[in-house]
Amino acid sequence: MKILVIGSGGREHALVWKLKQSPRVEKIWCAPGNGGIEAEAECLPTDLADVPGLVALGERLSPDLTIVGPELPLVNGMGDAFRTRGWPIVAPSKQAAQLEGSKIFAKQFLRRQGIPTAQMYGEFATSQDAITALSGVNWPVVIKADGLCAGKGVFVAQDAAAAEDFIRRVMDKNELGTGGKRLLLEETLEGEELSFMVVTDGQHYASLVPTRDHKRVFDSNRGPNTGGMGAYSTDELLPPKLRKHILDSIVEPTMRGLTSEGILYQGFLYVGLMLTASGPKVLEFNCRLGDPETQAIVARMDFDLAQVLAELAAETLEPSRLRWKPGASACVVIASRGYPGKFATGIKIDGLTDAERVNGVKIFHAGTHRKDDSIFTSGGRVLGVTSASDSIEAAMATAYDAVGKIRFEGMHFRKDIAANARRVQAAGD
Ligand code: AMP
Ligand code: GLY
Repeated sequence: MKILVIGSGGREHALVWKLKQSPRVEKIWCAPGNGGIEAEAECLPTDLADVPGLVALGERLSPDLTIVGPELPLVNGMGDAFRTRGWPIVAPSKQAAQLEGSKIFAKQFLRRQGIPTAQMYGEFATSQDAITALSGVNWPVVIKADGLCAGKGVFVAQDAAAAEDFIRRVMDKNELGTGGKRLLLEETLEGEELSFMVVTDGQHYASLVPTRDHKRVFDSNRGPNTGGMGAYSTDELLPPKLRKHILDSIVEPTMRGLTSEGILYQGFLYVGLMLTASGPKVLEFNCRLGDPETQAIVARMDFDLAQVLAELAAETLEPSRLRWKPGASACVVIASRGYPGKFATGIKIDGLTDAERVNGVKIFHAGTHRKDDSIFTSGGRVLGVTSASDSIEAAMATAYDAVGKIRFEGMHFRKDIAANARRVQAAGD
């Protein structure tokens, strides 16, 4: 098989790394890729927003399978463009991608299908209407910009002044571009978050191992939200009773709802959950794999990913093929100084070779590029140091051992990825 992977982050590096282990795979291209992916696949420049350009790339390469990592090409209809040409692709349709591309679409879908989610106060097309509605909400309130906002579209407002400021920045000053044309207000849910992902060909589905992301930039969940500063996976995250509850009350109704509404979903569906005192509730859908959750997930895969995804594209997904290594995995993200705000790029990274020698560790690149024999930073999230082991403690120890060998000016990372795994597990029992 010749496979084309679309994207440039740690998630795509993890996918390429896993796909490459398949005896079926002869060639992998990655567009646009990054400094780490370059060592494992042929990287090609591309504009992720440009579907005609991506179609031209497909025409030129004629891959046996295309796998799309990020949301932008999905929301822009890359899946439909390839499928109408008969080209095998792992990508939900443009309509299905609205589950991530429009928070209002997702909320309405959840409500139509009776799936537990945060109660919505309303959706608004003007700042004045949204601000007026603040008089009727409980505090804190969650404000969500409707469109794609690169992870900046959700704000938990503690009081009316903070809420009004966010609403004006999004709706009047267009700080999030077209993503903020409409917004919704919803109740704040409390509990631990869980990332539950499934893979589906539109008829059959299989769940992936559970993961937990660490969204805040600083230890102890302080500071602003990021794309994710680290993730871990253990089976203990999801005791059998909770797993059954999530499948019965959330995943099954979602799959049935997609089918009954005629929405073609072929690809990965990410269900972001809050485990509240009154049961799990949906915070969000993403129409793709999570990043950095994927890095922790691939570390536990014990099956041929290329085979499974080729079958998915052929609508013959075989859920029993997905087998998982017992134990645990963890991914620690190393970020640039200033991230998630403004950050510098072009800084040389040292120590990668030493870090890669740590037994059981794989370093996935995100924001890097290669020049001659050196690797330089090129993004906010730079590396995802990933490890799998028998226990979460052992996986963490190995990952942090490798992190300690990497150096670049201004680098920062959380020191508590997975640190609360045991406590949360005890609380959930
Ligand atoms: P979303 O993009 O909708 O996942 O939101 C990003 C993050 O905001 C989530 O992972 C949560 O940490 C938080 N969030 C979103 N909705 C809510 C809610 N209703 N209550 C509490 N936190 C939320
Ligand atoms: N880590 C969360 C996401 O990929 O959206």
